[in-house]
Amino acid sequence: MMRPLAVYSKFDLNLVRAKGCFLYDNEGREILDFYSGHGVISLGHSHDVFVSALQEQLSRLLYYSNAVPFVEQDELCEALGRVSGCETYDLFMANSGAEAIENALKVASFVNGRHKVVCMLNSFHGRTSLAAQCTEASKVCAPINAGLDVSWVALNDFEAATQAIDESTTAVLIEGIQGVGGVREGSTAFWQHLAERCKATGTLLIADEIQSGFGRSGKFFAFQHHGIEPDLICTAKGMGNGYPVGATWVSQKYALPIGSLGTTFGGNPLACKAALTVTQVIESLNLCARAQELGAYLRKSLQDIPGVSDVRGRGLMIGFDVPSDSAPVRQNLLRDHLIITGNARQKTTIRLLPPLTIDKGHCDYLLEHLPLALGVH
Ligand SMILES: Cc1ncc(COP(=O)(O)O)c(C=O)c1O
Repeated sequence: MMRPLAVYSKFDLNLVRAKGCFLYDNEGREILDFYSGHGVISLGHSHDVFVSALQEQLSRLLYYSNAVPFVEQDELCEALGRVSGCETYDLFMANSGAEAIENALKVASFVNGRHKVVCMLNSFHGRTSLAAQCTEASKVCAPINAGLDVSWVALNDFEAATQAIDESTTAVLIEGIQGVGGVREGSTAFWQHLAERCKATGTLLIADEIQSGFGRSGKFFAFQHHGIEPDLICTAKGMGNGYPVGATWVSQKYALPIGSLGTTFGGNPLACKAALTVTQVIESLNLCARAQELGAYLRKSLQDIPGVSDVRGRGLMIGFDVPSDSAPVRQNLLRDHLIITGNARQKTTIRLLPPLTIDKGHCDYLLEHLPLALGVH
């Protein structure tokens, strides 16, 4: 009998549907979603506007390849450029975050003809070959994922960055805010240092906004908190609100030869409609400001809970630590309090990535139940 390949550790939860900020299981339980399935559900589950836009597109034009132009791609680029404030980039669409990273690294190498990459310690960029080699976690690399020349720099280590970035570096790759790495970020001075060093050496700066982008940090992109402009931006996750879509945003400073990048499924009309609808709803509901406001409220309130320490993050991308292994706390939250949360590479960390449409009542529910799950009430 065929089975799903057992490569995931899983919660004991059988979902049958989801709506807004809630999941519903086969026992009729209603579970508050504070994780959005790794930060994917940006607008909320089965958001009405999203569902009807995709249904309309699905019944009219689902797919054709990039051998023909689509008005849907142009509409997406117009909206994305305007809403993100990144109008001087062109968009190459793919299907996942890891593909967005692969393509960004290829673009950098096409542009400057170099091989070496500078990556941050504690990073996560995905599981395909280049992305895996740029990820600081040995278990995502198979023996065949080898050979990339990577120099590792700790976040905010200015001296190491200066040493590592030189005329042989093709790109510096950095997450807007490290997600799997436990919600940690470079300081504004560090981002500016990287940008200056890249400019001085002809190196391209790649911002991985796959988890931190699309409004999650309280601005459209997390790097926008630091007053710099990367050469390349990678997006996925929240960009599609559950529809698989990824993209590499390429500064218009760079031109690429026809045929240098390509994909069968990326940028299909349905994918474009998903990303367009996400962008329009982020704009119409002012979700960046909402993430900023509710995130500030959550972080401030979490700090007052005994047993919670080192509350960090921006907007609705939040990490904090509990006194020991967070797994039993997260199990308690799910089993006894019907709240799903995320973990991170460090065992004591809990990661929160709720839909951006969450409200204060949902936050208060978590704040009331977390002390019970921690056993500190
Ligand atoms: C920052 C970051 N980059 C890249 C990826 C890889 O994305 P995907 O799983 O869609 O390939 C992830 C996924 O968790 C991520 O968090």
